[in-house]
Amino acid sequence: MRIGRLPVDARSPQRARRVFATLPARYDLIGSVLSFGQDPRWRRTMVRMALQDEPAVVADIATGTAAVAIELASRGEVRVIGLDQSPAMLAVGRRRVQASGHADDIRLLLGQAERLPFADASVDALTFTYLLRYVDDPAATLRELARVVRPGGRIASLEFHVPPRLGWRLAWRVYTRVGLPVIGGLLGGAGWWRVGAFLGPNIEDHYARHPLAQQLEAWRAAGIEDLEVRVMSLGGGVVIGGRRRG
Ligand SMILES: C[S@@+](CC[C@H](N)C(=O)[O-])C[C@H]1O[C@@H](n2cnc3c(N)ncnc32)[C@H](O)[C@@H]1O
Repeated sequence: MRIGRLPVDARSPQRARRVFATLPARYDLIGSVLSFGQDPRWRRTMVRMALQDEPAVVADIATGTAAVAIELASRGEVRVIGLDQSPAMLAVGRRRVQASGHADDIRLLLGQAERLPFADASVDALTFTYLLRYVDDPAATLRELARVVRPGGRIASLEFHVPPRLGWRLAWRVYTRVGLPVIGGLLGGAGWWRVGAFLGPNIEDHYARHPLAQQLEAWRAAGIEDLEVRVMSLGGGVVIGGRRRG
């Protein structure tokens, strides 16, 4: 059997849709295994940051299979609007929302982060997870995300990161180049082999184009202040939180 590769650069709606079109319903289980079980902990940290001021309405952008949306809804009296551009991911998300018992609190929408179908300052807080590697212009997308949050509202994100210390970085490279495709393929077949092989190079490519310090400047330029940055799990993940200026 021949298994094709995904392009390292996935910065367009079409390429990102291709990455996520074939992923099976086991996305969350496999995603957790691929992050060495760290991803649920990163998400909880991000959700805590977003809910600090007890918002009534939270937008979760690139909501995928709605894991963050469900975590938000289960933590407080909050209405969540989850948005994603992938019909395949949202279809799994809808089933998970029904099963979670939070169907009255969560609405899922098809849409793009670069052009949110929301009015200015219309939500109290916003989260986004694993999004900026898939957009062409992260700074412009950050401005669009900040636009819809009311002044003073919280914005929090989660993204993979490249371990800064040399020893861990080398181990991370071996894991992402060998372990991820093999484990992904064993658990989820060819689609997950491709995603496993794509992730490491894609993450490194993203930080080569947009180093973390430059990204934080883009957050500030988008009008988000009081930034809190938590590099977690030896540098494998980074959670960033801030507050819309005003
Ligand atoms: C790795 S998944 C993460 C899903 C979810 N946030 C989670 O943590 O499980 C990335 C998601 O981003 C979505 N995505 C990528 N580019 C997007 C864009 N420009 N606008 C909206 N969603 C996008 C994909 O469809 C995919 O569901």
